[in-house]
This record gives sequence, C-alpha cells and structure tokens, in this order.
Amino acid sequence: MEIETLNSKTVAELVANDYRTAEIFKKHGIDFCCGGKKSIAKVCSEKNIIAEEIEKEILALQHQPKDSDHNFNEWSLIFLTDYILNVHHTYVSNNLGLISEFAEKVARVHGDHSPETKDIAKLWGEIVSELTMHMKKEELLLFPYIKNVERYSKGSLKEFPSTHFGTIKSPIRMMEQEHDLVGSLMKQIQVLSNDFIVPDYACNTYRVLYAKLEEFQNDLFQHIHLENNILFPKAILLEENLTPADNSNSI
Ligand SMILES: [Fe+2]
Ligand SMILES: [Fe+2]
Repeated sequence: MEIETLNSKTVAELVANDYRTAEIFKKHGIDFCCGGKKSIAKVCSEKNIIAEEIEKEILALQHQPKDSDHNFNEWSLIFLTDYILNVHHTYVSNNLGLISEFAEKVARVHGDHSPETKDIAKLWGEIVSELTMHMKKEELLLFPYIKNVERYSKGSLKEFPSTHFGTIKSPIRMMEQEHDLVGSLMKQIQVLSNDFIVPDYACNTYRVLYAKLEEFQNDLFQHIHLENNILFPKAILLEENLTPADNSNSI
C-alpha cells in the first residue's frame, strides 16, 4: 500500500484490514473504536500528530513476516532456548496486558447481550496468571539448566550443573501439564468466540480482541510445539546420555 492510499483510508478501515495497526493507533492515542471513521490525515491534523510517522509504522508492518520456516530440529538447545525466549516469551509478555485491556472492555460494554464475552474475559484472566508463573519457572530454572547441561556436554562447563529437582523429567512433566491447562483454556475461548468470528454488530475493539486472541493462540501453539516436541525430548535425551558418574552431582 502506498502512502497516498493510506492517507485516504479511515482508521477503522485500516484496523479492519490489519489488526496489528490497532496497537500503533493506541500508542499514538488515536481512537480506532467509536471514533475510527476519520482518515489518518484528518485525525492527525486534529490531534497535532505527524501523519508520516504513523504511515511509516503501518507500512513497516507489511514487511514483517508472520511465519517462518526455520529448521528448529537442527539447532543447538542453547540457540533454540534463546529463540523461544526472544520470540515467544517476549510475544506473550508484550501481549498479555494489551489483550486483558481489550477483553475487559468488551465484556463491560457487550457482556449483557453477549454473555460469552464475560466468560472469555474470565478465562483470559486464568491464562494470564497461569502463563506468567509458567514462563517464570522456565526462565529462572528449567531453561538455564538445559543450557548448562548442553554446555557441560560440549566441555565448556566443567561441573555437571546442580539442581534441586533430580532429573529433568520431573520439571518437564510439570511444564507439559501446564501447557495442557493453558491450551485447553485457549480452546475454550476459541469455542466461545465461535472460532474468533465476531458478530455483525461488533465494534472495532471487539474485532481487535478476537483477532488478537486468534494470533495469540497461533503463537502459543507454536511455542508449546517447540517446547513439548523439540526442546524437552532433546533435553531429556542429552541428560540421559551423560554417564551416571557425570550427573551424580545433580541429585
Ligand atoms: Fe515457554
Ligand atoms: Fe512452556
């Protein structure tokens, strides 16, 4: 899309075409919900904002790929762990608060005639507290241990890393149970939201909420896939392949 075309579009049209633009408008204090029927040029001149700045940010979105086809299986555990942290944990941290805000607003405004929006807000709240604790455990305990086991296996760490949890299977089992729980909460939201399809009367916040929830679910499932199916089995195997004498310090 060119800048001239962008200029003539209304804020509401742009959010409808690409929900990621909602975050840009929110950041600049532009109402994309009830007051979204104005063009970017008009809203910027009313609010004394430089339109070119917003246009540049919107155009930049078009060059951001949503998916990748990395060969995760070939990566070292240290590299894969860092990827999961930098891509998926960062994504979750950046979006939990934003989606909560949208979910609470939609439940408040539409909850009486669309009661499922209240249930969605409640389920989302459970996801937020579960995932926040879950990621902390991975970031502070499990992932540093996995990285150190790999460092030890390559000789860059002299001592087998010590832990309070015995073998790695025990925290991994806990992480997998927590993945199941969060995954099932997310699927309940998917069912309640009719596969993230908004009703005809939905306002822009409602539309952005469902689009963000769908995006979040896609990211979450990829995140869980990388941990459950690639990182965890490889970490278990690596730990098992070290001689008992080597890992006796861990117990
Ligand atoms: Fe994770
Ligand atoms: Fe996880």
